[in-house]
Amino acid sequence: MNTDKDWKDKLAVVTGASSGIGAATAKRLAREGMQVALVARRADRLETLADEIRRAGGRAHPIPADLTQESGRARVFTEIEARFGQADVLVNNAGLGWYGYGDRMPWKTALEMLQVNVEAVVQLSLSFLPGMRKRDGGHIINIGSISGSIPSQGVAVYGATKSFLDSFTTALHRELTGTRVHVSVVRAGPVRTEFGEAALAKENGGHVPTEHIGVTAGHVAWRIWKLLLRPRRVIYVPGWLRVVPLTELAFGWIIDRVGPLLLKRGRGASL
Ligand SMILES: NC(=O)c1ccc[n+]([C@@H]2O[C@H](COP(=O)([O-])OP(=O)(O)OC[C@H]3O[C@@H](n4cnc5c(N)ncnc54)[C@H](OP(=O)(O)O)[C@@H]3O)[C@@H](O)[C@H]2O)c1
Repeated sequence: MNTDKDWKDKLAVVTGASSGIGAATAKRLAREGMQVALVARRADRLETLADEIRRAGGRAHPIPADLTQESGRARVFTEIEARFGQADVLVNNAGLGWYGYGDRMPWKTALEMLQVNVEAVVQLSLSFLPGMRKRDGGHIINIGSISGSIPSQGVAVYGATKSFLDSFTTALHRELTGTRVHVSVVRAGPVRTEFGEAALAKENGGHVPTEHIGVTAGHVAWRIWKLLLRPRRVIYVPGWLRVVPLTELAFGWIIDRVGPLLLKRGRGASL
């Protein structure tokens, strides 16, 4: 168990900080006294958020970067090292989705998703982890999804990227047992952000059926702050979603049968 004093003045790197969960998390952590490094492509949004945080008395440092690129991710790491020496918290939040049948998914969208949702998480984690181990302190938080626990029609590649995060997190968590370095995955259900809009804007993209429902980004940010205070391998947001992996085990065979029907009939599944 950590206290809020343990995190005061420490540096959190938050990817995907230009909107949604990332922006809300950066604001929350800054409000709790942490310094935040804001990573995403849209530099104007990062500057606006940094100004807002500074006006409220916090400390924020925009680092614009495209996380599809290995060089962009490497630059985030070297900039943090050069300016701050270390990162105490890494929130791997940047991510994108796409909704529709796999046979209509353009490869370039699948590749972008693999690069941001998987490659960037691995590269940034492996870059920051040795420093955390050396200092014996730090926390990596991966923003997963309940889609990683229940492979679903319409999100074949997206769900697989989030399953990857589940496995990656669990293995690292087990490697780090007995240390003061923590790795966690946040299995989030629907959250009201720009996620659905961004997915729809992509070639052949359909409406994400859950795009208008779910918890607020602020709620997820609050749970992330609580996770820093009380580290655990996995949290579900909202909490009742912890039944979902059991549902897949018990009823996966039914979902196999009705899956294609659900996708055709799904609200807004404009395919
Ligand atoms: N919303 C949901 O229902 C939901 C549910 C479960 C899990 N999640 C996960 O939560 C995370 C955040 O999503 P959100 O809901 O907050 O969506 P969002 O509002 O669309 O935010 C996505 C963030 O990712 C960043 N990003 C995308 N591509 C990037 C790239 N190439 N380089 C750098 N940054 C990139 C975006 O910044 P730029 O465009 O400025 O680069 C943006 O800041 C994602 O990992 C998502 O899978 C979301």
